[in-house]
Amino acid sequence: MDQLDNWNEWNPILMPLTPSGLLPRNGPRREVAGAVADMMAPKRALSPRFLEKVEIESQLWDAIRNDMAKARPSAVAHGARRLGEVDQDIVQAVSRSAFATFLRRSVKGVVLSDQVSLSYLYYEERDWVPLHVDGLGRFEYSCLVCVDRKRVAGRPSATYFLLGRTEVAAFDLSAGEAVWFHGRYLPHGRTPLGPGEMVALLNVGFSAARTSSTETSGLVDVAPTRPMVGEMPGSSSKW
Ligand SMILES: [Fe+2]
Repeated sequence: MDQLDNWNEWNPILMPLTPSGLLPRNGPRREVAGAVADMMAPKRALSPRFLEKVEIESQLWDAIRNDMAKARPSAVAHGARRLGEVDQDIVQAVSRSAFATFLRRSVKGVVLSDQVSLSYLYYEERDWVPLHVDGLGRFEYSCLVCVDRKRVAGRPSATYFLLGRTEVAAFDLSAGEAVWFHGRYLPHGRTPLGPGEMVALLNVGFSAARTSSTETSGLVDVAPTRPMVGEMPGSSSKW
């Protein structure tokens, strides 16, 4: 995954914990992942919420399906998957939709952005996403909407969420289903797709319209342990 546009200070710690795309059941990697998930839990504004039927009107849904197929050839690699650009008319239509309003209203105590950020995510055989949290800014909250899914026999690939040391939630979405979650504070990833499997998702991202200033400034000025030349009032020391 590209760390530049998904930058978050936790990701250099989280991403190496799932080198094969699978979340370890136990051991040091799982201990660290679980500890991070526990630390983040108080900041989570919602638990991952499964939506059985995405309420997007049929005309817009058809437009999304067509645009997603059209964008596929020019989709660019983004980690072990590909990412496609969404038509601006669709971005505007989804931003204004009753579905986006429903998502905004479902997060208590937080004002979410009017404008959504959309991207298409294409997964094929061997694609997977490492354990991570979403970057600062555009994708603080995400709704992964499944547009298309092809399964084969065997264990299916799934999006999973690590809620704490012992609690994992995993979703293998079918077309028309979605999962809505606070990606900035909920470690999540996707297990590898097997031969013949395919997943196509629309990511509907929201930022928080109001954020705490303490969260955007993580650096602390460290006072020097001894006075610096010329900076001590009344001091003539020039040691
Ligand atoms: Fe993510």
